[in-house]
Amino acid sequence: MSAIVVVGAQWGDEAKGKIVDLLAQRARYVARYAGGSNAGHTVCVHGTTYKFHLVPSGILHPQVTAVIADGVVLDLRAFEIELAALQQQGVDLSRLRIGQGVHLTMPYHRLLDELEESQVEGRIGTTKRGIGPTYADKAWRIGVRVADLMERERLVQRVQRVLRRRNPTIERVYGAKPITLDTLIEELARYAELLRPYVCDAPHLLMNALEQGEPILMEGAQGTLLDLDYGTYPYVTSSHPVAAGACLGTGVAPNRLTEIWGVAKAYTTRVGEGPFPTELHDTIGERIRNRGREYGTTTGRARRVGWLDLVALRYAARVNGFTHLALTLLDVLSGFETLKVCTAYRWRGKETREFIADAHQLAQCEPLYTELDGWMEDISGCRTFDELPPNARRYIHFIEEYLNTPVKVISVGPGREQTILVE
Ligand code: IMP
Repeated sequence: MSAIVVVGAQWGDEAKGKIVDLLAQRARYVARYAGGSNAGHTVCVHGTTYKFHLVPSGILHPQVTAVIADGVVLDLRAFEIELAALQQQGVDLSRLRIGQGVHLTMPYHRLLDELEESQVEGRIGTTKRGIGPTYADKAWRIGVRVADLMERERLVQRVQRVLRRRNPTIERVYGAKPITLDTLIEELARYAELLRPYVCDAPHLLMNALEQGEPILMEGAQGTLLDLDYGTYPYVTSSHPVAAGACLGTGVAPNRLTEIWGVAKAYTTRVGEGPFPTELHDTIGERIRNRGREYGTTTGRARRVGWLDLVALRYAARVNGFTHLALTLLDVLSGFETLKVCTAYRWRGKETREFIADAHQLAQCEPLYTELDGWMEDISGCRTFDELPPNARRYIHFIEEYLNTPVKVISVGPGREQTILVE
């Protein structure tokens, strides 16, 4: 029996999709545990690119049952578009399941997210996918879940209740047009039929699978530093990307977890607002952005780029309890004489190796760097650790030692085959 968690170790976009695809080879179930259509996971197989937002990317493996577990929030419109695209690419969706406890992202959630983000003050730089408002309704206990969608009368009651609270905000706070109950119910009734074949009791499905010795993989979205509690609040998402979130989001007990894989880029990126100590505003940053194609899968936004921040990564290793690390996009760093890695912060005159998650304080931190020798060779064709140039190997060993976590997978390009497994 194994239950593996795959967690983003930075601010999201660590190429988790590729690592999930690799580890899903030995899984029977792949369950997405948090976030919603704000996520974008890209997987390239034999020259075909698949883009996932809600469906677990593990579905590409024919033995896998892919589960959208209860910690996820599901936007029905985005889901319909994604299903159609995957169907067109020939992906077998009969192995998809959706938890009946999944909360639905509604048109009013998207609208509220957009309206809030259009205010100049306090902007978070969200994906405008309605994520925050959906989780807010969940916490306020007025959310609408998949189980509600399956019964019309129950659905009408739930939606009526939430519109009584949300419509006045839409109208009076933001001066926008309220949502009409009847139109919304008609739209939802159509989606109910789209979802019905996939609905399941996700915690029972996964607990039974574990008891029968079936290997499970839990697929995270976003990253540790975007966690609602452990990230750089308020510049975070509204769910729990951390490993503990995998238990909350799936119902799998913490003592069942056997491996916790952190996925980190060989440098750092961030999308949206918020402090970023190692951010580069120069031509080096430009070069990394272009070589790494650092533009969002979901929004197309240019990502902010910086040197590898080991202070932040060590925090992620500790918060999540990483047993393994996967290092991605190492090929992007080829061609630099030297590479900087941040090994401490200076904050209010003191040096520290402890990450400061408080956004206000983090913005005051000065990164302190160690310079390592770079390598000039193109490494995208390397398939074993020993084929990597010596300085690339040193770079990896430096990370392992700092984090006290072994690097077990190295990605040197987007293709499935551009992967090095470290013995
Ligand atoms: P939200 O999740 O759309 O509410 O956005 C909150 C913050 O999380 C913003 O800074 C977003 O840019 C960031 N974010 C959300 N999803 C992702 C992702 O998949 N990758 C990277 N950043 C993300």
